[in-house]
Amino acid sequence: MKLNIAVLPGDGIGPEVTAQAVKVLKAIAMEFNHVFTFDYGLVGQSAIDKTGGALPEETIALCEKADAILFGAIGDAKYNNDPLAKIRPEQGLLGLRKTLDLFADVRPVIAYEDILDKSSLKKKQIKDTNILIYRELAGGIYFGDKTFSDDGNTASDICKYSRFEIERIAHLAFEAAKTRKNKLTLVDKANVLASSKLWRKVVQDMEPQYPDVTVNYMYIDKAAMELAINPRQFDVILTENMFGDILSELAGVIVGSIGLLASASFGENKAMFQPIHGAYNKDENKGIANPIAAILSAAMLLDHFELFDEASLVREGVNKSLKLHITTPDLNTKYEHITTIKVGDFIEDFINNPDETNLNFTNIHLGQSTII
Ligand code: IPM
Ligand code: MN
Repeated sequence: MKLNIAVLPGDGIGPEVTAQAVKVLKAIAMEFNHVFTFDYGLVGQSAIDKTGGALPEETIALCEKADAILFGAIGDAKYNNDPLAKIRPEQGLLGLRKTLDLFADVRPVIAYEDILDKSSLKKKQIKDTNILIYRELAGGIYFGDKTFSDDGNTASDICKYSRFEIERIAHLAFEAAKTRKNKLTLVDKANVLASSKLWRKVVQDMEPQYPDVTVNYMYIDKAAMELAINPRQFDVILTENMFGDILSELAGVIVGSIGLLASASFGENKAMFQPIHGAYNKDENKGIANPIAAILSAAMLLDHFELFDEASLVREGVNKSLKLHITTPDLNTKYEHITTIKVGDFIEDFINNPDETNLNFTNIHLGQSTII
């Protein structure tokens, strides 16, 4: 298969983790005789520094002509104390989501057996957790009208949804539930918010179209607690933009590190793949950023093009790295010298040679090349 992939590494640790995802995709292309080409574009602070804006026209054009987009991370800590800045790196990501109408964000949350002890939650509570979060991504409070009064003392954000916007993602979430445990949980705040009342009504109206799927309705405050106490009860979670942002980051606690959480954002005819974590500027170029979320996002890219064997080989490589503790320090107190690049090299080696990776394990821990 020929694929042209737009790569937007972004800021902070974005370029480091994205480089590992590209490395893995190149290994897959080699192993399975595909032709993947990679074209790089600017986004976020790195785009602001070079062009003055977070989402240059060339980047949009690059994404529009690409088959898929691989995104790193964006953000810069210097805005932490400058909330009123007119131009911000986040505008790059939000602009892409809006321009390409990437309305459905899929965020898998899987508690890996080999690292259950890395979670701050109890092993027996998180074991076998496997959740798929469907986060609406192109609407809601993120994109509603915003006001800021001239005197600087009053501000507002509108959270607006239409039946159409809810239905199009809800259909995808129902369909996903059908291929899993047939359980869908709509997370909302329908006891208070008008937009949430509409979400609940629309999903209720859709229920008869999916007789096999059991739908639960849960308020966001309760869902946050339930996710921490008993995450196993969830199968597919469907929710609006901001609730999905918060819940998916909370899910990082379940799996042991946010550095493991991948995502795929879909529009009608575009798809973007992105680790859910941010840019962590203070960790930039230290070699400690976990590349697995980026690598698993690349696996989701392969799934999207129905390259299922390829995607499972990547996931096997990830599982093996977790099993052998070939992971960055966020998950690894045992072998602290394992860097971002070494994790990428290990998974690349695994793809090239799935049967011999146990041998390479010794070399990795000696700090040598993984190539025998
Ligand atoms: C995410 C991020 C973004 C979001 C930020 C960087 C705008 O946190 O993808 O989860 O809030 O959606
Ligand atoms: Mn987030």
